[in-house]
Amino acid sequence: MTEAEMYSVYKGLLVPSLLYTPESLKYFEEFVFRPDDIIIVTYPKSGTTWTQEIVPLIMSGGDPASVETLPNWERVPWLEEIQACTFNLQQRASPRMLTTHSPYNMMPPSFFEVIYVMRNPKDVFVSSFFYHRTASFLVNPGPQTDFLHKFLDGKVFFGSWFDHVKSWLKAEDKEHIMHISYEEMILDLKDSVGRIAQFLNKSLDPEVIEKIADRCLFKNMKNNNMSNYSAVPREFMDQTKSEFLRKGIAGDWENQLTVAEAEHFDFVYKDKMKDVKCKFVWDL
Ligand code: A3P
Repeated sequence: MTEAEMYSVYKGLLVPSLLYTPESLKYFEEFVFRPDDIIIVTYPKSGTTWTQEIVPLIMSGGDPASVETLPNWERVPWLEEIQACTFNLQQRASPRMLTTHSPYNMMPPSFFEVIYVMRNPKDVFVSSFFYHRTASFLVNPGPQTDFLHKFLDGKVFFGSWFDHVKSWLKAEDKEHIMHISYEEMILDLKDSVGRIAQFLNKSLDPEVIEKIADRCLFKNMKNNNMSNYSAVPREFMDQTKSEFLRKGIAGDWENQLTVAEAEHFDFVYKDKMKDVKCKFVWDL
């Protein structure tokens, strides 16, 4: 397949054609939310799978079966992906747990509770670089510097990290959107689980919160075959090249980016984020 065949353009965003078809994107556009749907939103590689582990555990009061029965992509499905329409979401009991990589301005109307997870873009870039080497439905990233330019120009799947994050930071209905960062979750997972539970109006005992946080530690999640993508065939995702749950740390960019690449990143970041007031936990 050529690069042009591997991706299609959906409302100006690049999406991998194998995962996102005209039918699946139509299904997403026409999706009718219920007021109590819980929606995890991320730019790819920002902690989606992690949150898909945390939220079901919270909603089930810490029941391990909530993350051991279905793979994450069926447990908290991506609405725009090809499989979503096969999961019979209309029949699912409320509150449904859903995922999307959509920017705010492309969301179907009337969604309500959103957990928006963001991550230091340099680490998103690194994670994405390795992911592009393993996933056959994504274009080979080529040399790191070339991929960095593509990433900073938004010529990667789901477009520009900057536009995505800014769209969700500027979103209306702020009281129904929880913004949390990957780094906050790394720094204090127990506190993050507690805050997410509070946002979801789920009152949990401190011991339950502790148990959930422990289960969601990187080393423990790696052993959950329903969350580590081991069920995905190798021709689709070759984890011998790089595991999906790869390093699970904050600041890996320092090991991966050259000084020149990091400086260029900072330069672009400063310009693109100059109108954003909010302070992030990551250190840029
Ligand atoms: P790395 O490639 O930096 O290791 P997404 O699920 O949005 O695709 O994001 C994948 C990234 O989240 C990967 O980052 C993965 O290792 C990390 N991740 C997944 N579960 C995690 C956990 N429990 N703790 C820390 N990081 C986790």
